[in-house]
Amino acid sequence: MKKILITGGAGFIGSNSALHFAKNKWKIYLIDNLSRKGSKDNLSKLKKNIQLTFYKVNVSNYSSTSKIIKKIKPNLLIHCAGQVAVTKSVIDPRTDFNSNVLGAINILESIRLFSKKTRLINISTNKVYGNISKKKITQGKKRYSYSHKIKSIDENQPLDFLSPYGCSKGSADQYVRDYSRIYGLDTVVLRMSCIYGNMQFGIEDHGWVTWITILSYFEKKIKIFGNGKQVRDVLFINDLVKLFLKLSKSKKNINTTYNVGGGVKNSLSIIELIDILEKKLKKKNKYEKFKWRSGDQKIYISNISKIKKDLNWSPKIKISEGLDKVIKWIRENDSKIKKILKI
Ligand SMILES: NC(=O)c1ccc[n+]([C@@H]2O[C@H](COP(=O)([O-])OP(=O)(O)OC[C@H]3O[C@@H](n4cnc5c(N)ncnc54)[C@H](O)[C@@H]3O)[C@@H](O)[C@H]2O)c1
Repeated sequence: MKKILITGGAGFIGSNSALHFAKNKWKIYLIDNLSRKGSKDNLSKLKKNIQLTFYKVNVSNYSSTSKIIKKIKPNLLIHCAGQVAVTKSVIDPRTDFNSNVLGAINILESIRLFSKKTRLINISTNKVYGNISKKKITQGKKRYSYSHKIKSIDENQPLDFLSPYGCSKGSADQYVRDYSRIYGLDTVVLRMSCIYGNMQFGIEDHGWVTWITILSYFEKKIKIFGNGKQVRDVLFINDLVKLFLKLSKSKKNINTTYNVGGGVKNSLSIIELIDILEKKLKKKNKYEKFKWRSGDQKIYISNISKIKKDLNWSPKIKISEGLDKVIKWIRENDSKIKKILKI
């Protein structure tokens, strides 16, 4: 039986990955420090549904992390643990560094020294590209767009780490690439835009699609930072976990970096999301505008051509269908979500 270790395994991406790999007959090991609201609840759900081994560990602790990796020697390690919010990184860059840079080094060193055959999927972010050039953007009624011929951002975009979160995730991204070059580790880096879906306890700082859907569902006031025309491509979680499984089987991607998201066809601004939710939930949303948050890109849309071609993968779940699934999850768990998120 193949073994997968997921760090941040009780988080949104981690717990959905655990369910998918368990369904595909993998042996599941999870590391999480349970610092995120909702992670304890995700873990209970996992424990009820699948066989797993759980370690409550902070990945910035090398001794504990390396012991686990040395013992398990997983075939695949998906590194999802970390500080996830730009806003929090601005307030507390040291914690962000410890979680994201030290955490990544600890994973890499553990694999290098004790488990060299492990394939590592490192979850990076579009924030490593920074603001990209402001000149190439135009402002429409409800969204920003790329001008000229550029419709999306590919992997050749120069790196420009923006915000402490951008720096810590970017450093980890580059360390992972270099451990592959220098030490021959089997790694893949995924620079992801916005992922949304069930078991995501969205908060104001992270997971905006689900967060706004939750606020809209509970008829709470939505805070819009900036003018609401910010655009991202969004990917439903079920499409992402299928990609992870494909990557676990493919050996041609060693030391490769991919941009991953919903792509041009699945891009969305905040205002557009609010419009869709008003129609779906048949409720008028209340919102208030606040000043732009530092490090917020006006538009980011992933060019996913490279991963489509190499893995024969593409997003299947369109925004409308994905939002229906999220609304159903909120409806089925509404009192729990309300309690966990204190809304
Ligand atoms: N969700 C997205 O849209 C998105 C987009 C780009 C990149 N990412 C990256 O994907 C990864 C997973 O994100 P997510 O959306 O599942 O977030 P999440 O917050 O739901 O999951 C992260 C999990 O890691 C745990 N954790 C945090 N710091 C830890 C530490 N030091 N040691 C051990 N566990 C720790 C948390 O308790 C949480 O359960 C993160 O690295 C994030 O930066 C996410």
